[in-house]
Amino acid sequence: MAVTALLVDGLTVRFGSFRAIDALSLAIDYGEVRAVIGPNGAGKTTLLDVISGITRPKEGRVLFDGAFDLTQASDSAIARAGIRRKFQKPSVFEGLSVRQHIAIGADAGFRRALDAPALEDRVSEVLETVGLAGHATHLAGELSHGQKQWLEIGMVLASDPKVLMLDEPVAGLTDEETERTAQLVRRLNRPDRAIIVVEHDMDFVERIADRVTVLHEGRTLFEGPMDKVRADAGVIEVYLGR
Ligand SMILES: Nc1ncnc2c1ncn2[C@@H]1O[C@H](COP(=O)(O)OP(=O)(O)O)[C@@H](O)[C@H]1O
Ligand SMILES: [Mg+2]
Repeated sequence: MAVTALLVDGLTVRFGSFRAIDALSLAIDYGEVRAVIGPNGAGKTTLLDVISGITRPKEGRVLFDGAFDLTQASDSAIARAGIRRKFQKPSVFEGLSVRQHIAIGADAGFRRALDAPALEDRVSEVLETVGLAGHATHLAGELSHGQKQWLEIGMVLASDPKVLMLDEPVAGLTDEETERTAQLVRRLNRPDRAIIVVEHDMDFVERIADRVTVLHEGRTLFEGPMDKVRADAGVIEVYLGR
């Protein structure tokens, strides 16, 4: 009786006469990590923008939990429903501590109000999960690029999201940081959560994704497990073979 977390149905987004998303349909289930890959300009970030309520489509719907049409909702209503995103560029508050960041994420996002001790517990748990417990009192401005990425994932995680979207989480990270991020993403996977990751690093995608959607010119070129993606002639031609 699993409900589809996100059902994208006949979605078209135009910028002028250009179709960034072109009659796209796809379904993302609870309990899965879905990678969305494809060449630059394929429409990956635009898809996340529509799901977040930042961009309005010309046609189509995006149903959350089978009922809530996100294309008719405000970005704040979408966030309150538990659909959260880490943007491509890290944008932390340099002068606030790591712990303060996570507390802001928990406070701003948690759908049940937390009393002070519960908030403290929640913040500590998230710090542990993202591997920043030892940096709790450090200022965000002192963190490495990788640690800033984890801090932002922690802020999103603190709100206990139902749908978690990560746009290029390992861009610019070292191999070791990338490996730690892969382990983190797998730890965030839960039966009652859907995770969508846009990324170009194919080894990372292979480590984290249950299924992969390959976008090309706003349409699905291929969908399946990573080994099938790597073997697909069309995907090799437009993306992997480059
Ligand atoms: N606000 C916008 N105005 C005009 N064109 C846009 C806008 N946002 C995205 N595009 C265009 O839509 C296409 C898809 O962009 P995007 O979703 O960012 O691609 P991706 O994330 O897959 O690289 C690109 O050709 C991009 O230039
Ligand atoms: Mg993008």
